[in-house]
Order: sequence, then C-alpha cells, then structure tokens
Amino acid sequence: MTVLAERSRSAYADLAALYDLWVADSRYRAWLVGLVGLAREHGLAGARVLDVGCGTGLSTVPLLELGLDVTACDPAPEMLAQAELKIGQRATLVDAGLPRLPVLGEFDLVLAANDVINHVLDAERLCDAVASMAANLATHGLLLLDASTLATYRGLFAISHCREARDAVFVWRGMAPRDFAPGALAEGVLDAFSCEPGGSWRRISSRFVQRHHPHAELMEAFDRADLEVLAVLGQHGDGRRDPRARAHQARLRRPPTVTHHSDHSERRKPRWSRSGRSGPASSRSSSSRRAAEPTAGGASR
Ligand SMILES: C[S@@+](CC[C@H](N)C(=O)[O-])C[C@H]1O[C@@H](n2cnc3c(N)ncnc32)[C@H](O)[C@@H]1O
Repeated sequence: MTVLAERSRSAYADLAALYDLWVADSRYRAWLVGLVGLAREHGLAGARVLDVGCGTGLSTVPLLELGLDVTACDPAPEMLAQAELKIGQRATLVDAGLPRLPVLGEFDLVLAANDVINHVLDAERLCDAVASMAANLATHGLLLLDASTLATYRGLFAISHCREARDAVFVWRGMAPRDFAPGALAEGVLDAFSCEPGGSWRRISSRFVQRHHPHAELMEAFDRADLEVLAVLGQHGDGRRDPRARAHQARLRRPPTVTHHSDHSERRKPRWSRSGRSGPASSRSSSSRRAAEPTAGGASR
C-alpha cells in the first residue's frame, strides 16, 4: 500500500490571491493600532511581535508601520506567498500554525488577530494552541487573542450575502442556525468569482469551519498554560473598544512570574525566510516538521 501523506488544503489555499479583495472593507490599520495600544496599556514594552495566522499580511503590515520587529506565521503557504509579496524582507515569515506552534523566538507580544483561534476546532486542541503560543512569550510577554463571540456565529455565519469588489464577485453562504449553540462548529461557504484575462469567469469555492470557544474553555486553556488574565474586552472590528461590542473580544494574558523556560534547543530557524527559500514549504516535508514541534507539556511554565 502506498500512503501519500500530504497536508490537506486549507480553505484559504485557493482563496489566497483574492483574500484582500474579500476583506477590502476592513480597517486593519486602525484595528491593529488599537490592539497594540491596548497591549501597551497593559505593559507591553518591547518590540518583538509574533503575528500568528498572519494570512496575506494585512495584520502584519500595520505592525511593521508601528516600527515593531515582526515574525509572522501561517499554515497556508499560499497565504504566506501573498504576505511575502507585500512584506518582502521586512518581517520573518514562517510556515507554522496552531495548535502545536513551534517555538519561533521570545516575543514581547504574541498576537492572533481575526478569528485565528477559532480555526482550532476542539477544546483539547484549544489548550494545546494556547500553551504553544505561551511558549513563545518572553518574560513579561503578553498574549493577545481575538476570538469571535456567539454574535459572529449567529450573525455572519447564519446569513448569506453577495458583494462585488473590482473584478470579483463574492457569494457568502453562512450555514449556522440563528440559535447557534455555544461551543459548536459553524460552517460557511464562500464562492469567489473572478474575471480572468479574456473575459471568462473563474469560480473558487472555499468551505470555512470555525469553532466558537466558550468563555469558560478559554479561561481553562489560559489557566492550564499558567497565564494570568489581564483583561477581557469587547471590541469592534476597527479597534474601537466597547463593552457592548460582541463581534470581537480581545483577551490579554501574560505569564504570572518571571520564570521562563530557557531551553533554546527547540528554537528553530524560520522555515520560510527571505534568504532560505523563495517559495512555499513543501507539503511533503510536513510530517517531519511536525515531529520536531514542541508538545503542549513542554510549553507549560
Ligand atoms: C481570517 S484569516 C486572518 C489573517 C490575518 N490575521 C488577517 O487579519 O487578515 C485567518 C488565518 O488563519 C490561518 N489559520 C487557519 N488555521 C490556522 C491554524 N490552525 N493556526 C494558525 N493559523 C491558522 C489561515 O490560513 C488564515 O490566514
């Protein structure tokens, strides 16, 4: 029997080239400036930032414009390729994702913006994901998560809509029920129709599955990773804070003590670096890469 082990294509793989058009209405700069401001209010002092689930780099660019020293990672090579087009040499780009994020450095701020944590699809892996992000924190580092609330899954994921942007038409079909239950999985399908040179239309169909993480499960994950809760805040998509806003919640954490793991043996060179390679990491090497990744247990402090 021949077994071909290959990473399954993410919903973002085919969509990557059109992703920026799909989210064109989003106000990234204001939002990211707001998130960094929030982190500074809670003691962020250093400039080393890890942008987890950076996608096409829309969340990364404002961080660079703020003068921060950014490493950005994403498990979809196609999204990273788009990020590289925008960012060039200005940030270190790494092919890696949750729930077992490798230790990529010691960061003053680990940020997972725009529902990235909701791509982790069960409570156990949520704990692994939080622990592996915690393992990337420097002493006094802050973890800032942006997690979607029930409002997202009873709203965006429960409706259908159509939008036109330049030479593309996007048709979103949310499959979740209006009474979507806490902790459930939500599904949506995005059909992107893009006008090709010559006038023909191409259709890309992407299926998205996200999990709503109940508050208690997030708290449990932070507790298990030995992280102290500094704030849980409501926030609008453009960074405006509002306790009544339910679309996004910013959750800010940092380790409670100055103790810090000092095992540098697991620190790894970025697999996606300007100097090291010019394209996506080969999916065939993914199994050996995963074997070297730290376990959640190794992340506890
Ligand atoms: C909604 S996009 C956000 C991208 C970017 N942060 C932004 O704000 O535009 C979600 C990103 O999460 C990435 N992603 C999906 N599963 C992930 C995982 N398990 N770990 C880390 N990132 C993941 C996707 O590849 C995608 O780029």
